[in-house]
Amino acid sequence: MNCYLEKRGISNENGIRGVRRGKRFGRVTFPRHKLSTWTFLFGTIFLLYFVVFGLKMPFHEKLEDSPLIQQRTHRDLWASEAGRPPLTPPPRRANTINTATTSTTTTTTTTPLPSSPPRGKRHRQHIPCEIGFAKSVDYIVEPSHLTNFTQFSLKYIDREEKASWNNNFDLRFGGHQTLIERQQSFYAKNQTLHCGFVKGPPGYPSTGFEINEKDKAYMKTCKIVVSSCIFGNSDFLRRPTSKQISGYSKNNVCFVMFVDEQTLSKLSLEGNVPDDGGKIGLWRLVVVRNLPYKDMRRTGKVPKLLSHRLFPSARYSIWLDSKMRLHTDPMLILERFLWRTKSEYAISNHYDRHCVWEEVLQNKRLNKYNHTAIDEQFKFYQSDGLTKFDPSDPNKLLPSYVPEGSFIVRAHTPMSNLFSCLWFNEVDRFTSRDQLSFAYTYLKLKSMNPDKSFYLNMFKDCERRTLAKLFRHRVLVLPSPRPAS
Ligand SMILES: *[C@@H]1O[C@H](CO)[C@@H](O)[C@H](O)[C@H]1NC(C)=O
Ligand SMILES: *[C@@H]1O[C@H](CO)[C@@H](O)[C@H](O)[C@H]1NC(C)=O
Ligand SMILES: *[C@@H]1O[C@H](CO)[C@@H](O)[C@H](O)[C@H]1NC(C)=O
Repeated sequence: MNCYLEKRGISNENGIRGVRRGKRFGRVTFPRHKLSTWTFLFGTIFLLYFVVFGLKMPFHEKLEDSPLIQQRTHRDLWASEAGRPPLTPPPRRANTINTATTSTTTTTTTTPLPSSPPRGKRHRQHIPCEIGFAKSVDYIVEPSHLTNFTQFSLKYIDREEKASWNNNFDLRFGGHQTLIERQQSFYAKNQTLHCGFVKGPPGYPSTGFEINEKDKAYMKTCKIVVSSCIFGNSDFLRRPTSKQISGYSKNNVCFVMFVDEQTLSKLSLEGNVPDDGGKIGLWRLVVVRNLPYKDMRRTGKVPKLLSHRLFPSARYSIWLDSKMRLHTDPMLILERFLWRTKSEYAISNHYDRHCVWEEVLQNKRLNKYNHTAIDEQFKFYQSDGLTKFDPSDPNKLLPSYVPEGSFIVRAHTPMSNLFSCLWFNEVDRFTSRDQLSFAYTYLKLKSMNPDKSFYLNMFKDCERRTLAKLFRHRVLVLPSPRPAS
């Protein structure tokens, strides 16, 4: 119940989009005593708009998943992310860019604001904010401090014998982790844990996510990776903006797009045929056969969360959702989000919600998943100590408990890899809604390892919007467990 108050506090903290919107509507200059008059006037215009144009108010999640809303331009999309205008004139934009480590002037990639925006139409808008990137990849050097991140050694369970299945003959990509094993796996120490890719006994069929040997060999060579996936023909192929990508990155970064066979043939039909090297533009398409889950969203969490398993030699990886077009050089992203902030894991917070309680409600409201399964997961987390997000807590461990996981930047350090495995295991055990398990996993990892650092950088959603252009997914991918009534 406090969530709603909390949300407001946080959005004021993230004042950037507010300032921009404020400027746009001239809110900042309104005399205070006339606020109610203006509110009334705006309300009337708003109502009129509704009457004339019908209920077309964009609502992020619904739109994203609606099969009716497809192929919209990104101009529309930036305009349609849901969010409320601030109630009070927002504070002046604080410059959060840490300039301590770079003295070079920075380039920015924000879009200029149109001088006379159409009223109403682009009301609920989230605008990318400025990010001070290094001037060019030539100016940046990988820092050596990575070696003093928490050190330990992780191994992964490769195969399970039948004995560990409890006479239950289902093969599972995620394996059969017991609750005791789950608890133990949270300790940041040398250990062997479940982290997907678990095979059955010899002679049993594959548990899925099969990749051919040639692609595997290529993936093994990658040191820095940008990856994404399209399964179930759920999206278009959006190539990174080539002119924003440096020659260095074109030669040294692997751009891998995981697709299933269905998506590959659909792309081919549309004229997107990979060349002899398996490439379409910068993307190298890697075909995944025998998808491990019926739920395409859950299958998508394998490349999203387990890049350290798929690219065993990689030191860094950047994940981006297929709804985004990469618009920034990956080396500049590593410098800005990891090296400069001395982080090993970077993810943005949700543009609107910060409390898991709210996220649960929203997931049910939009029928994102089987309600019983959501309740089971949520109850489990509450009984294990998950609390509501409190933005006023000076010792809070995260700026928000709800991530916007469509963009993740990580160094493949032990803590980062452990966190990725733990998060994946939650998605495998409970629901595929990974924003429900993010904070729980992070807080549990922290509380079980009080003396071990994990440098997670939760950045602002508006920054994510600068890195990549947002589009809508092509179609709705229905999770196989249909929502309960
Ligand atoms: C790494 O260690 C050095 C010296 O021991 C220290 O100054 C620095 O802050 C450490 N960096 C991190 C990221 O912990
Ligand atoms: C953990 O593993 C590393 C490398 O395998 C080894 O050097 C280290 O001694 C191990 N630590 C413990 C406490 O066993
Ligand atoms: C919803 O989830 C519950 C618990 O996981 C399960 O028992 C039930 O069969 C699911 N319902 C549907 C319609 O899939």
